[in-house]
Amino acid sequence: MKKKIAILTGGGDCPGLNAVLRAVTKKAILEYNAEVIGIEDGFVGLIHNKFRHLGYEEVSGILTLGGTILGTSNRANPYKYYLEQDDNLVLKDVSKQVIQNINNLGIDCLVCIGGDGTLSIANRLYKDGIPVVGVPKTIDNDIKGTEITFGFNTAVSIATEAIDRLHTTAQSHHRAMIIEVMGRNAGWIALHSGAAGGGDIILIPEIPYDIEVVSNQIKERHKKGKRFSIIVIAEGAKPRGGSITIQRRVNDASEPVRLGGVGFVLGDQLENNTGIQTRTVVLGHLQRGGTPTPYDRILGTQLGTQALRLIEEKKFGCMVGIQNNRFLPVSLREVAQGSRLVPLDDILIRSARSVGTCFGDNKSIRKKEI
Ligand code: F6P
Repeated sequence: MKKKIAILTGGGDCPGLNAVLRAVTKKAILEYNAEVIGIEDGFVGLIHNKFRHLGYEEVSGILTLGGTILGTSNRANPYKYYLEQDDNLVLKDVSKQVIQNINNLGIDCLVCIGGDGTLSIANRLYKDGIPVVGVPKTIDNDIKGTEITFGFNTAVSIATEAIDRLHTTAQSHHRAMIIEVMGRNAGWIALHSGAAGGGDIILIPEIPYDIEVVSNQIKERHKKGKRFSIIVIAEGAKPRGGSITIQRRVNDASEPVRLGGVGFVLGDQLENNTGIQTRTVVLGHLQRGGTPTPYDRILGTQLGTQALRLIEEKKFGCMVGIQNNRFLPVSLREVAQGSRLVPLDDILIRSARSVGTCFGDNKSIRKKEI
């Protein structure tokens, strides 16, 4: 019997998704003569039975394309689905319907490409009897059980280019320029782009910052003749003893808060404390849009082909993880246990500190004057 594989992309879009779709579909067709069904708009497609056949032609020429040709959604958890009823949103468990819809497709496996939210749902579907394999995706690089996710490299490249561009305008106007980058509660994007762009101060959620330390660092730089400063701040960063900055609460999504705006809060405080003109740029969804870097195209291709390997070996309930440069199956149970934060002893934090980067904490106070 011809094998049948269904595939979906869930959560926020991410550069490299199409590379995975292409790899899974081409390998399934070429090596297994399998049929591939593309589920549209993530779990919404499974709730409302929206899917289409994915053939060789459909995935040709998409390697370099950003986004996802299948569409995605981040508001569709079948176990907690918001339905509109009499102008109100009512929370419903529609998982039984979804399981029925999946069974009707007669598939051998459902491939879920997504971040921790999507993969947690995949884990529940697996527990409910669906043969599932996962592929980790997010620009945030915060999925448990894998050291790298595709999309991260592209986001870091875009953020780094933005930091490079801010340098010249900061220098010309002798300003402090703040760039707020994404990453939810993890500081991977801020840390890597900040290090690559030579940010003077990097503020990440894992290290709550002291506003006095940050202000003094900028004043010190000015005193020494460095009349500009670049501050890279993660959207989830928070002051010591304070809380995260919420842009908006959303009651119809699995992610109940939208982060954003901490860069503006910090900007006002710094300008008050230092008297130095400060400007804030929020990079936002530019970090997710557009063509993936070569690295993410390659990673997406490899993860896609490895997902087929998991199916072949019947390693359902697993995601393709990368550890010590090797692909390996990681239980979705582990993935569902929250996000992977930057460890405080991360080697890049240590190197950045060694070259004088301030992380807004007491460890950032330099012992020796240069
Ligand atoms: O998880 C990816 C991400 O881009 C986060 O960095 C960010 O907080 C969030 O998604 C934004 O989500 P939305 O697309 O709902 O604005």
